[in-house]
Amino acid sequence: MQKGLEAEQTLDKELVKSVYKDQQDIIRVVIRLYCPKGIDLDPTFSLGKFYSTSMPPRLRFDIDPQIDGVVKADCRNLPLGNESVASIMFDPPFIVGINSDNTRTGIINGRFGAYKSVEELWEMYHGALKEFHRLLKPNGILVFKCQDTISGGKQYLSHVEVINSAIQKGFYPIDLFILLADNRIIDPRGEQQHARKFHSYFIVFRKGKCPVGYTEAQAPLGAKATEYPPEPDNNE
Ligand SMILES: C[S@@+](CC[C@H](N)C(=O)[O-])C[C@H]1O[C@@H](n2cnc3c(N)ncnc32)[C@H](O)[C@@H]1O
Repeated sequence: MQKGLEAEQTLDKELVKSVYKDQQDIIRVVIRLYCPKGIDLDPTFSLGKFYSTSMPPRLRFDIDPQIDGVVKADCRNLPLGNESVASIMFDPPFIVGINSDNTRTGIINGRFGAYKSVEELWEMYHGALKEFHRLLKPNGILVFKCQDTISGGKQYLSHVEVINSAIQKGFYPIDLFILLADNRIIDPRGEQQHARKFHSYFIVFRKGKCPVGYTEAQAPLGAKATEYPPEPDNNE
């Protein structure tokens, strides 16, 4: 009986789900659950489309600013003090492609891709995670949007790399949302080799020791990470 009542109360408030078709819904529920005061910093702000229905962050950076109010900076080296922000929203490029003459390939690559290989892109992710760990206050929140990709016929599960790297640097993955796309641009050439990706991830990390040992290699590293007191457990 008590459990039924609790469920109804949850539904009154809107049940937060792990899958949405609109990224505005994911951003809204992430803010509700983990950053009730809003997002402090977006280091890949671009046009700020993320915030069409929610409060934009006060600190906005991009390596290639598109609009006024966004400061040019590399997310791996931001002009901010140690432990100065409570929350970060990170939406880096997820695809790669630069021609040998340094021009970019493809329509989407044109603005969102500037990395020659997935390995180079992942190097940027590693550097960014290190910088975000420096910037975040204890228990601070990082939301990392990423998408897996196929390059040179190889399957790159970027979400695995991001989670492993973040744990090694002292983050705990506390939630994961999947954004489901209605449609994607399909390349009609050739035979299909892999499933076309119709989803991307919003992974929510908390700065602090990861209490789950995902692999033997990670457990000792996780154990070395700075330990912060656990947050209240009222949303799970
Ligand atoms: C997918 S877009 C972000 C879109 C944004 N979330 C929005 O709502 O409009 C990725 C952005 O990351 C920026 N970027 C790529 N590498 C970067 C880096 N090393 N440091 C900072 N920004 C970077 C690109 O210039 C691009 O604007």
